[in-house]
Amino acid sequence: MQSYTRLYINGTWVEPAKHGTFKTINPADESVIAEVAAATAEDVDLAVKAARNKFDDDSWSGLSGAERAVYLRRIAAGIRAKLDYLAALEVRDNGKPFAEAQWDIEDTAGTFEMYADLAEQLDHNGSTEVALPDERFSSVAIKEPAGVAAAIIPWNFPMLMAAWKVAPALAAGCTMVLKPSEVTPLTALELANIADESGLPAGVLNVVSGLGPDAGAPLSEHPDVDKIAFTGSVPTGSRIMQAAARDLKNVSLELGGKSPFIIFDDADIDAAVEWILFGIFWNKGEVCSATSRVLIQDGIYDRLMARLLEETAKIRIGNGMEEGVLMGPLVNASQYDKVTSMIIRGAREGATLLYGGERPAGFDKGYYLQPTIFVDVPDDCSVWTEEIFGPVVCIRKFSDEGEAIRVSNNSRFGLAGAVMSQDIERCNRVARKLRAGIVWINCSQPTFSQAPWGGYKHSGIGRELGIWGLNNYLETKQITSFNSDEPWGWYLK
Ligand code: NAI
Ligand code: MG
Repeated sequence: MQSYTRLYINGTWVEPAKHGTFKTINPADESVIAEVAAATAEDVDLAVKAARNKFDDDSWSGLSGAERAVYLRRIAAGIRAKLDYLAALEVRDNGKPFAEAQWDIEDTAGTFEMYADLAEQLDHNGSTEVALPDERFSSVAIKEPAGVAAAIIPWNFPMLMAAWKVAPALAAGCTMVLKPSEVTPLTALELANIADESGLPAGVLNVVSGLGPDAGAPLSEHPDVDKIAFTGSVPTGSRIMQAAARDLKNVSLELGGKSPFIIFDDADIDAAVEWILFGIFWNKGEVCSATSRVLIQDGIYDRLMARLLEETAKIRIGNGMEEGVLMGPLVNASQYDKVTSMIIRGAREGATLLYGGERPAGFDKGYYLQPTIFVDVPDDCSVWTEEIFGPVVCIRKFSDEGEAIRVSNNSRFGLAGAVMSQDIERCNRVARKLRAGIVWINCSQPTFSQAPWGGYKHSGIGRELGIWGLNNYLETKQITSFNSDEPWGWYLK
């Protein structure tokens, strides 16, 4: 068993004030991987104070973007140097297949590199002249770091979600406190280690592992936090927004989804099968943007479903460290219980369980679940309306474009959507009609850190990644000058 019993605060590893720990488990065999430090309000306060002091002394925010980029690149190199080690740690903590964990860690490093580039560009584009209609005045709009940022992240892409928040915050010149999920805290603690080894100045990044109510809540309520960025469930997101309201903190939220995938009957069957399966079963369906509602046009339905079942049956389930495994175990017991009880409820509410729904044969330990397919799902059925966050896809038939768009948009979520057809004009038309922040054409899920990420409606507020993600951590200031020798003329006439 490894030991991660310290918190990273102000550039040193410290015991939590109450000496608390919690255990993180490997969902493949239910074994304990590590004892982890459990922060409470006292520790969170120290971490926020460290970030506050570091921000207020201007030594980090006062660096040029190019100077901060040096640290971001060193962190990226530190991540790349340990890529397979970190990927394996992610597999043990989360259960995902090793190859997918390698993508995650690769993207984690790539995110730091991209924000290093954007930090450098900030030195040139961080100040914009504003054209004014009065020639006696001139004005510039400048970008400045937002202050102390807090990041609270989930368990489905542990290190990548840390990077999506830490990299833009540091690029912008913020200092920060990161709280990883108690379900998968290990790679965030490794990130602190890598940052430390990279020579990142003390106090710039603080990492406090701990439980949601004990560590996350005091962080989201802390008056010295200026900006809070959260990814996770809708109820927790709503709670964080309420906590942030008291001090008018700037909030960005990336919450759940119930994303539709519309397949028109001119689609290539093999391509449709591949993207439907990837869209819901990669990362065991524990993906906020998973295309969990599939709408298939009636002309292609029977042929497509036959091929889909054939390929679903071939998906290899097992320990993510085994070669060839495409679906690992769900992340923990409570997620397994949540997903399986939703499957039972869906069947009771009238959806037809066509495939899966059960623990696969041959596993007596671990939170394994078969890939699961529901068809003929009524549109008020909970498996159609609620986020399951597991390997469960709901499929329906549709007859025309208008119906597909109407059914797709009939959701309280609006994170993502996908459309497949050989008619590119139709794809583009439908893409513009979907009420969602991310739309894929002729694919589902590929994510680039350059493009904006986030949702409409209950799927959240704000956008991460690219320049949009950087702007989350920047304030905009106007500086306006009066350049005339003439009196203003209010009383001197
Ligand atoms: P959660 O939203 O409760 O947890 C996410 C993060 O928030 C964790 O770091 C947690 O410690 C923290 N947190 C929990 N309570 C908090 C509070 N009162 N104040 C501040 N921070 C708090 O999600 P959880 O319980 O891990 O998973 C539950 C469901 O959430 C899943 O079944 C899934 O439906 C959804 N989910 C959505 C994700 C997404 O990417 N949109 C990611 C993970 C889960
Ligand atoms: Mg774990």
